[in-house]
Amino acid sequence: MRIGILTVSDRAYEGIYEDESGPVLIELVREHFHQDVDLYHICPDEFGAIQRALEKWCDDAHMDLILTTGGTGFAPRDVTPEATRAAIEREAPGLVYAMIHASLQKTPHAMLSRMAAGIRGRTLIVNLPGSPRAARENFLTILPALPHALELIRGDGATEHDLEHPIDAEERERQERNVSD
Ligand code: MTE
Repeated sequence: MRIGILTVSDRAYEGIYEDESGPVLIELVREHFHQDVDLYHICPDEFGAIQRALEKWCDDAHMDLILTTGGTGFAPRDVTPEATRAAIEREAPGLVYAMIHASLQKTPHAMLSRMAAGIRGRTLIVNLPGSPRAARENFLTILPALPHALELIRGDGATEHDLEHPIDAEERERQERNVSD
């Protein structure tokens, strides 16, 4: 499994303060996926920088999972969701609903999170909020669904979701009947 962590923060990028949420996610990946992350980077709250990093990590570095932290709120420079939507090909709104639903049980400020999640090629990208506590809480919310999500994206193994379409099955049966006739 190839996992990347992208911290999005002007102040962490400029070294005004140390990134805390990135290391929290690195530790959570160690604990729950039993591996080190493959890429960890801090980028400023710049639409182009975020989009480029995400696309490169999907297309060239072939990440299975990219977690971003930061830039999901209402501040003028919070553009992580917009840059993420520009990079993804298919949205994964269920992950976002689950995170906001769970976070609302903890704080009404969860209403202020504008996270996005989606798939580019074979990579799942999920935005998490910027505070270390919020990043951790939201990661733990989606964790139970991640293994199956990543399996489906890779197209590994047949699951109940991959069952043959009834029309395809009917056609295959007809062809098999013809062959044996
Ligand atoms: N979600 C959880 N689970 N716990 C939190 O403390 N903080 C909220 C929200 N989501 C929070 C949370 C707050 S205060 C904000 S402003 C938004 O996430 C966006 O955070 P960001 O701009 O740092 O990404």
